[in-house]
Amino acid sequence: MDDPTPRPPRRKRYAGKNPRRFEDKYKEHDPLRFADTVAKVLASGKTPAGSHVPILVEECLDALRLSPGMTGVDCTLGYGGHALRILDRIQPGGFLIGLDQDPIELPKTEARIRQAGHAPDAFAAIRSNYAGIAKVLAGHAPGGADFIFADLGCSSMQFDDPSRGFSFKHEGPLDMRMNPQKGLSAADWIARISADDLADALASHSDEPRAEELAAILAGQSYPTTTALAAAVRTATAADPETQDLTVRRVFQAIRIAVNEEFTALDMFLRALPFSLKPGGRAAILTFHSGEDRRVKKSFQAHHRDGVFSQISDGVIVASSEERRLNPRSTPAKLRWAERAGA
Ligand SMILES: C[S@@+](CC[C@H](N)C(=O)[O-])C[C@H]1O[C@@H](n2cnc3c(N)ncnc32)[C@H](O)[C@@H]1O
Repeated sequence: MDDPTPRPPRRKRYAGKNPRRFEDKYKEHDPLRFADTVAKVLASGKTPAGSHVPILVEECLDALRLSPGMTGVDCTLGYGGHALRILDRIQPGGFLIGLDQDPIELPKTEARIRQAGHAPDAFAAIRSNYAGIAKVLAGHAPGGADFIFADLGCSSMQFDDPSRGFSFKHEGPLDMRMNPQKGLSAADWIARISADDLADALASHSDEPRAEELAAILAGQSYPTTTALAAAVRTATAADPETQDLTVRRVFQAIRIAVNEEFTALDMFLRALPFSLKPGGRAAILTFHSGEDRRVKKSFQAHHRDGVFSQISDGVIVASSEERRLNPRSTPAKLRWAERAGA
């Protein structure tokens, strides 16, 4: 007699011994079931698919001077790596607001943090751009925050997932939006931009030395996929094979910053930041390239001079050689902190 119980769908087969494609790495996507596989991937200096390895964690926690009972904001919740460690330090009695603009990853991260035992009276996940931090605090912590943390840029979940279209290493639709429900995809943005505006973006967002030459070739063209854009940049720089990869990287970075309006959001955030902190409250910000770090440094220094911040970090804190070996994505990270005056 036929068995009436429906069988679970079979997992698709991949070629070779180990899965290579992001979507086939089903063990890495399920760290609770396959902890051994995830530990092996981490030990090899790689980021398991669908996750993010938090950077400079101890240094960020120390810079924020956390203690039980504090209320604060993680402006860039991501996978929740920093948030979980912050939550450990502010309990009992503390409250963390986690912001992120990514509607795809935020619910997964909120579920993970709830599963780790943090109830709504200790943690709230809010889909918001950190540019609107003042409004978020007015609704949730009108007295201001004891601490504010931001880990800028995009997460490994976004970067490594070909369907999000961030990386030139994997073929996918050329999208690059952290919030795909808002604004133009990278493909539409390039198709509509003028050569002058693209040259400006390449020069100001990633210090691209051949900004004008590349912009004249790329602006107004149709590149539906990440690999099509990468191939066009490689063709344009074929005479200089040694710098080709670096140029592709810079072009992708500049377009990502433009499509997500990252500097506009960061400037708005930095203007609101000091006044979102309680007297004596601390902010810590991790940056990953000179355009971000310049803005944070200038803003912190200006508010130190005008007395709004009583102290700022002396220079930048960077990852140790051991952290860089274990997580090469920590290599460009720079941490700065500031303390609101009037404690
Ligand atoms: C580097 S990841 C943060 C990783 C996180 N610290 C962790 O340990 O998992 C940056 C996150 O910030 C989010 N993000 C970037 N810009 C944002 C903005 N303007 N407003 C809100 N979220 C933003 C991205 O969607 C991404 O999830």
